[in-house]
Amino acid sequence: MGAPNLLNPERRMLRAMQLSESSRTWDLTSILAACDWTDQAIVVGAGHGLQNHGLVDVREEHIREIRLDAQGEHAVEHGLLESRIWAWMQSEESATMQGLQQAFERHEAGPGVGLLKQLGVGIDGGELKAANPDEITSVIDQRSAFLASLPADANDVDSGMLDHFSSRKNLIQTVERTSRHWVLTPEGSAVSADDLQETMVITDLSPELLQGDDWKTAEFRAFDVTLEAATPRTGRSHPMQALIERVRSIFLEMGFSELVDDYVQSAGWNMDALFIPQDHPAREMQDTFYLDQPSFIDLEADVVQAWKAIHEHGGDTGSTGWGGSYSTEVSQRPLLRTHTTVNTIQYLAEHPTEACRVFSVDRVFRKEAIDRTHLPEFHQIEGIIMEEGANLQMLVTTLKTFYAKMGYPEVRVRPAYFPYTEPSLEIEVKWRGKWLELGGAGIFRPEVTEPLGITSPVLAWGMGLERLAMLVLGLDDIRQLYISDLEWLRNQPIL
Ligand code: PHE
Repeated sequence: MGAPNLLNPERRMLRAMQLSESSRTWDLTSILAACDWTDQAIVVGAGHGLQNHGLVDVREEHIREIRLDAQGEHAVEHGLLESRIWAWMQSEESATMQGLQQAFERHEAGPGVGLLKQLGVGIDGGELKAANPDEITSVIDQRSAFLASLPADANDVDSGMLDHFSSRKNLIQTVERTSRHWVLTPEGSAVSADDLQETMVITDLSPELLQGDDWKTAEFRAFDVTLEAATPRTGRSHPMQALIERVRSIFLEMGFSELVDDYVQSAGWNMDALFIPQDHPAREMQDTFYLDQPSFIDLEADVVQAWKAIHEHGGDTGSTGWGGSYSTEVSQRPLLRTHTTVNTIQYLAEHPTEACRVFSVDRVFRKEAIDRTHLPEFHQIEGIIMEEGANLQMLVTTLKTFYAKMGYPEVRVRPAYFPYTEPSLEIEVKWRGKWLELGGAGIFRPEVTEPLGITSPVLAWGMGLERLAMLVLGLDDIRQLYISDLEWLRNQPIL
C-alpha cells in the first residue's frame, strides 16, 4: 500500500500498534507506554490523524466515573469518621460521651455521634451502647471497602453505597470523561514498516530553516484543505459597518466624494429649503424630533427671505408657491435631521455653480414606533449629481449601477411624489421574486435650486440603508441588526 503522508507521532503510534497483534484494543495508558510518551494529547492527536487516513478506528465512550473527593481521600487514608469512633468505642471499657469528647475534636465528635446513632448506637446515661456490634462492624467495613474501590464506573458501583455517600459532604464526586480506545484497521496493519520511519517533516517553513540544508532532504507535510476545521472566532466589523464600507467604496469608485455633517439642523434647511410647506404633516411633533437646546438656529437673512418669497408666492420661479404666510420662527426651529437631503442641499448652497457628485451614508431620525420594518434612528444612502445636461436617464442609470454593484441587477423606478423633486421616483429592487421599495429620487425643482443660485440640474436620491441590509443579510426583522446577538453576529457573512 502506498505510504500516506503521516506525521511523526502518527508513524510512531501506528508502528507501535503494528508490533502487537492486529486485533488488539489499545487504551491510552498502553499507547503512552508503547510510544514512550507522557502527554495524552499527543495520543489523541495522532489517533485522530490516523483515523482520518483510515488506518485506525477510534472508539469513544463517555463515562461517568465516581471518584474520591477531598474528604473521601482523607477517609481512605485515616479511616471514615464512624470507623474511627467505632474502633475507639470498642477499645474503651466504658465508652462515655465525655470520653468521646476528649478523644475527638468537637467538629468530629458531634457528627460522629449522629453517624453512630444511625447505625444503631444508643446513649444510655451518658454511655454509648450498641445492641448489634457485628452488624455495625460489617456496615462500616462495607463503606470503607467502597471508598477503597474508587475510582469506578458509575454503572458498576453499588447503588445503595452511591446514594449513601452522595448524601455526605465531599466524600465522593461524579466526573464525566471520555474514554478512547484505538484499534488497527486492515489498512493500518498493511502499511509497511519502512514507511513508518520517523523523518524530519516540515510543517512550517521558516527563514531559519531555509538558511540550512536540512530542508533539502526533509519531507514536506501536505495539508488536506477539505478536512473539517473549527471556524476561528476573531474580531470583525459589525455587518452594518461592513455594509456602510461597501456602499462607500461603491460610490467612491463611481467618482463621488463623501459628505459628513451634523445631526442637529434647522427646520429651515431640513424642510423650507426643500420646499416642504410649513404646514406639511411630516413636520409635526409626532413625526419629527424637535430640540429644546439650542432654542433656535440662526439662519442667514437673505436665504430666509428667498424661502419666504418662494413659499408664499413662488418668488421669481414662475411657481405660485404654497400661499399663506411663511414663519421665520418655524424655520429656525432645531431638530434632528429627518433625512440627509438637509446636508446635500446645504452643500449645493455653498457650491451653487460647481458641477459635483456627492454622497453620504449617515444617520437620520424620525419618530417611528419600532416594529419589524421601522426604527426611529436609521441610515440613509444619499447622493446628488449636479452638472450641465444631467437628466432623468442619467439618474436612473446611476441608481441601477449602484444596485448592480451591490448585487441586485434588477431595479425599476416608479413615479412618486416629493415636494422638492420633479419628476419624482421611487426605486424598487427585485428580491426573492418581489419588488421592494428602497428609496426615493428625483430632480430638484426650481423652487429648491433657484433661491440658492444653483444653475445646473441636480439629480438627487435618498435610500434606506437598513432596508438594504435586510436584503443583503436576508432578515425578516430590522431590529435584529441592533440587538447585539453575538451568535447571530458571528454567523453573518463577510460583506
Ligand atoms: N429625502 C427623501 C426621503 O427621506 C428621499 C429623497 C432624496 C427623495 C432626494 C428625492 C430626492 O425619503
